Amino acid sequence: MTSHIKEFYKGQNILLTGGTGYFGKMIIEKLLRSTEVKNIYLIVRGKNDTDCEERVASILKSEIFANTDEKHFFSKVHGMDGNMTKLCVGLSKSNIEFIKNHINVVFHCGASLNMDNALADAVMTNVNGTAELLTVLKGSRELKALVLVSTAYSNCNNAVINETFYDPPIDHKLLINMAQNMDPTLLKSITPRLIQGWPNTYVFTKAVAENVLKTEGSNMPTAVFRPSIVTSTVSEPVPGWSDNLYGPMGILLSSNCGVLRVVKGRGCLKPDTVPGDMVVNALLCVPWEVNDEWNREKQNYVPPIYNFSGKDSPLYMSMSEYTSKVKNCGYPPFKKTIWSPMLAIVNNKYFFNALAFILHTLPGYLFDMMLIITGQKPRMRQIYQKLNKITTVLHFFLINEWTINNDNVKRLWEKLTPSDRAAFNFDLRTINVNTYFQNLMTGLKTYILKEDMTKAQVHKERYERLLILHNILKYVCMFLLTYPGLKKLWLLLIKPFAG
Ligand SMILES: NC(=O)c1ccc[n+]([C@@H]2O[C@H](COP(=O)([O-])OP(=O)(O)OC[C@H]3O[C@@H](n4cnc5c(N)ncnc54)[C@H](OP(=O)(O)O)[C@@H]3O)[C@@H](O)[C@H]2O)c1
Repeated sequence: MTSHIKEFYKGQNILLTGGTGYFGKMIIEKLLRSTEVKNIYLIVRGKNDTDCEERVASILKSEIFANTDEKHFFSKVHGMDGNMTKLCVGLSKSNIEFIKNHINVVFHCGASLNMDNALADAVMTNVNGTAELLTVLKGSRELKALVLVSTAYSNCNNAVINETFYDPPIDHKLLINMAQNMDPTLLKSITPRLIQGWPNTYVFTKAVAENVLKTEGSNMPTAVFRPSIVTSTVSEPVPGWSDNLYGPMGILLSSNCGVLRVVKGRGCLKPDTVPGDMVVNALLCVPWEVNDEWNREKQNYVPPIYNFSGKDSPLYMSMSEYTSKVKNCGYPPFKKTIWSPMLAIVNNKYFFNALAFILHTLPGYLFDMMLIITGQKPRMRQIYQKLNKITTVLHFFLINEWTINNDNVKRLWEKLTPSDRAAFNFDLRTINVNTYFQNLMTGLKTYILKEDMTKAQVHKERYERLLILHNILKYVCMFLLTYPGLKKLWLLLIKPFAG
């Protein structure tokens, strides 16, 4: 049986924003490997003295392109200099003309994901970028589908997240105007009131961006795709690949390096995670369905929304279970591990502060002292300050749970032929948990920490020595704490935190 999805992409011109990012690279690789697209155009900004063309070339250096033929890549992948914070995305007149005449499918993935971003910056990239892209695309002659990649948490002010548009928190034109013209200090001071109900400027601006698509993209074949928390790949093109440390990936890395040992959150909470390759497979099926609907119902077209949630996945488990399964999955230990890993997830503020002092601050100072004595630069205090900032930003997601409905995604899966399903598998039920965790951790070791896998045995032996040291210290502490005088002191110290 033929694959509708492969047929759909044959000879098509694709436009992609965010091509240098995590999703972008996976989309480019998958399109080149599994479809016969004509060309892929990337809107890329120059950065740090590197221009658009050089940045496009550097995408190929990513491990996921290891099996991509360089000639094949360069004959199909082209850069267009642009910046989402600028008018008409900063594109040249000739590129705008080209887009209007030749582009068939658009994936808008470019965004600022920094949860700590100043509102003005987040608005200019996420809201203004979407509005300007739609201006460019208006009147496109060959457009079959435009998909805005949003997040399942764009409407996290609701406990139940349906596959619908929600009322915008603010008019996007007013918001862009404020970002462009308001005094930065004033805007900063009113930001908490403006984004009330949303935990950060990232998800708030994503909620507004979705409404930009709804209003400014009417009369266009559009859709919104909302993945939940994205983690490493299951298998495509390689197992365990990731190149960013957003959310749980950062927590898993730092805790398994023995650095992060306690976070504030609810251990019983189930994080909704989805592997990157399955997200991309589902995303690539969306334009096919959008185009179909658009051709059938141009007049009454309502942009569909796809919530790509992990609640049907075997990875949907409590945070405590998740971290313990990862720890015990049998992954090759990291060379950079500095102590035996553990991760306590506690919600009581006082208990957390006490544990953070004992497990982070004290060992951090001791470690820094050791570094100074051995003539090295102290770094633990800085690392803990950074980790503290990250976990504070993530706290909202570590204490709340949402019901994310995904009927449209399920329906899309049901519509696929066996060939489509084989080539674009996004059936989360097929994931083997232990293999997935092993690959995820091996991926962190190889792709993020860049450790040499041929030395895995040496790293394992070093890790075993750390375990022995850890156990010796643990038993010495336990002995001291049961010593009558010290026991009394310990009980006195922990009294304020008890209960
Ligand atoms: N990763 C996740 O866990 C996750 C989960 C749910 C939804 N999403 C959504 O998925 C999409 C892609 O995320 P990602 O993980 O690929 O993020 P990412 O790795 O941080 O990539 C972001 C991309 O956006 C580009 N970009 C940012 N500002 C730009 C600007 N002013 N002009 C042009 N390009 C700009 C970046 O380009 P530079 O290289 O020039 O910075 C980069 O290519 C986002 O829309 C995000 O909201 C991600």
